[in-house]
Amino acid sequence: TDNISSIMVIFGGTGDLTHRKLMPAIYNLLYDKNLPENFCVVSVGRRDKTDEIYRNEVYESIKKFSRIKIDDELWKNLRDRIYYQKFEFHDDDGYSRLKDFLKALDDRYKTNGNRIYYLAVAPEYFELIVEKLHQHGMAENEKSWQRVMIEKPFGKDLNSAVYLNKKITDVFSEKNTYRIDHYLGKEMLQNIMVIRFANVFFEPVWNNKYIDNVQISSSETVGVENRGGYYEKAGALRDMIQNHMLQLLTLTAMEPPIDLTTDSIHDEKVKILKSLKELTPDLVLKNAVRGQYEGYRDEDRVSPDSDTETFAAIKVFVDNFRWAGVPFYIRTGKKLPVKSTEIIIQFKPLPGVLYFKEYGGLMPDLLVIKIQPEEGVFLQFNAKRPGTLNKVIPVRMDFCQNCQVGMNSPEAYERLIYDALRGDSTLFTRWDEVEYSWRFVDKIAEVWKNNKPDFPNYKPGTWGPSDADELLLRDNFKWWNIG
Ligand code: BG6
Repeated sequence: TDNISSIMVIFGGTGDLTHRKLMPAIYNLLYDKNLPENFCVVSVGRRDKTDEIYRNEVYESIKKFSRIKIDDELWKNLRDRIYYQKFEFHDDDGYSRLKDFLKALDDRYKTNGNRIYYLAVAPEYFELIVEKLHQHGMAENEKSWQRVMIEKPFGKDLNSAVYLNKKITDVFSEKNTYRIDHYLGKEMLQNIMVIRFANVFFEPVWNNKYIDNVQISSSETVGVENRGGYYEKAGALRDMIQNHMLQLLTLTAMEPPIDLTTDSIHDEKVKILKSLKELTPDLVLKNAVRGQYEGYRDEDRVSPDSDTETFAAIKVFVDNFRWAGVPFYIRTGKKLPVKSTEIIIQFKPLPGVLYFKEYGGLMPDLLVIKIQPEEGVFLQFNAKRPGTLNKVIPVRMDFCQNCQVGMNSPEAYERLIYDALRGDSTLFTRWDEVEYSWRFVDKIAEVWKNNKPDFPNYKPGTWGPSDADELLLRDNFKWWNIG
């Protein structure tokens, strides 16, 4: 297959992301026979090392992080196609050498001038690298394709995102710009649309007539680990809400697209982001809760009086015909009790007669879409407890797709790299999605900046500050911590 023949150039080739995620993903794509035959990888880094040393490091990383056990025979097939180039990202000579090197590789691997430039670097280098690629005539040309994959964060607010986007689109067209939100590569995110639009039992009740509230939760047990430097400036709002959490909300709330093309899907997603009810300063204070775990201020490269939030819970409304009046509660945080991402749809109660009265209320029906670590869906509904007269208990109908033995879902980055090779940007964020999510998030950030929080306010291993519980209790709801 000719058109996917290409060279993947990874800037940041010695970094964590490359070792933990990208190289294992490339290896697994090879294992699954999804890697083009005419393909090679050139890693660019600032450290001095030979191809040999670099390849050995990559081998160790794959061994450690790949979901599929490394097979030495298969590894050989990839090993010789991985190269290392050392230069500083501002160094013009480095780009000239890289250009010649890639040309030589084109001859050897029949890669036809096609390129994927993967920017696995700190965001301050995005602009520089793109500019240099352009200056050296390595960006777009007519005879072949050149795509750029950009890691998060895409800006730190709307203004910086607009600026960065301008710099990138001066060089690469939107169609060749692949903005990564790795959550979109997760199996269950891709499943949300299928579950909603391929089943008669969900779509007809998926609206404000039948749904009481939606809870979207992504919790982590880890703290900031060694990323204090980055995280201090980001916080949970920019690190998780602006991208992953709003993507989850969008997929949950969007209308059915007219077809499955990239633009049709993105069009519907953007409509949701546009219809998020604006959080005025008053509403931010009321409906956006932030937290910081005890001990965060002692972490490496964290200020001892840091006001950065490691937890956020926000109540939002999607102000459109389908969803008017239904609260969406989104919540994310570090050092929480479990690592879990899930979407919970809580249905409205039935009229309070029959079983309801006698037995002190029924549990609401819940539909739970489990994103990770378990991937699946379950329905919780009411049934008669066997052996009783009329006692009603909640029961579960459970579908777990990664519980079966031998089922080992591809990692997000496998799918994302595969799609970029094929030229499919459906699972990447289009510019206007980024734009509208920053518009929403900036309003919250602004108010938070001007109001000093009372941090730290939650203990590691708990579900965040009590205000997060209050947020739902006020509406007579509670968080369903399914985990
Ligand atoms: C990243 C955030 O985008 O997502 C991290 O920067 C977070 O802070 C991570 O830990 C969570 O991803 P996952 O795939 O482990 O849920």
